[in-house]
Amino acid sequence: MKAKIKTPLVAPSMLSANFANLLPDIEMVNQSQADWFHMDIMDGRFVPNISFGFPVLEAVKQHAAKPLDVHLMIVEPEKYLPDFYKAGASLLTVHYEACTHLHRTIFAIKELGMKAGVALNPHTPVILLQDIMAHIDLVCLMSVNPGFGGQKFIPHTLVKIRQLRQLIQETQSAALIEIDGGVDTGNFQTIVNAGADVLVAGSSVFKSQNPAATIATLKNAHAGTLA
Ligand code: DX5
Ligand code: ZN
Repeated sequence: MKAKIKTPLVAPSMLSANFANLLPDIEMVNQSQADWFHMDIMDGRFVPNISFGFPVLEAVKQHAAKPLDVHLMIVEPEKYLPDFYKAGASLLTVHYEACTHLHRTIFAIKELGMKAGVALNPHTPVILLQDIMAHIDLVCLMSVNPGFGGQKFIPHTLVKIRQLRQLIQETQSAALIEIDGGVDTGNFQTIVNAGADVLVAGSSVFKSQNPAATIATLKNAHAGTLA
C-alpha cells in the first residue's frame, strides 16, 4: 500500500502585508508555495475595525497569479455580491452571523460563478450549518474574534474542527475546513492533524524574517497518511 501525504492549502492574509507598497508582497505570494490570497474585508459594523475595499481588492487582483479568497466581515453582504465578483473574488465567504437568509446568499454567490464559503465566529456552534452544509464549498472557522490580525489562537477551535469534519461526512458535503486567526509555525501541525484543509496566516507570515519560507513550512504540514 502506497502512503500519500495530504498537505493543507495555505492562504496568506494580506491584512498583514505592507500597505505602503503591496506589490513586493503580492509577488512574494505569487512565487511562494501559497495557494490563495486571503483578503479580509471589514466594515466597522460587523467587526470593530475597517480594513480595505474594492480599489485595493482590484489592485491585488491585477497582479495576483493565484485565486482571491475573500472573507467578508461586513453586515448585509448580500448587497455587494456582484461587486466582489467584479473585483476579482474566486471564493467569497460570508459570516453566518451576518446573514438572515444564508441559503439565498449562498446560491446567489454560486450563480455569479464564485465558490461560496461560510465563516463562524468562535462562539457559533458548527451544528448550525447542518442544513446548508451540502451547498457550501468552504467553512471558515474563526480561531480568533474577527477584526484584527495578530491575535492568539483559541484552542477550542480544535474541538470545532473535529465536529465539523463529522458534520461534513454526515451531510456528504465537499466543503473545505479553513482556519483563520492565530495560525503560526508553532500550532499549524496540531491544526492540520485535527482536520483542517486550509490555513490562513497573516502576521506569522508577513512579520517573519522570511515570509516565503514560513509559507513553505505551513504548506509542508502532514495531514496523516492515507491508504
Ligand atoms: C481576522 C482576519 C484574519 C487575520 C488573521 O479578523 O479574518 O484573516 O488577518 O491574521 P493572523 O494570522 O495575524 O491572526
Ligand atoms: Zn480572514
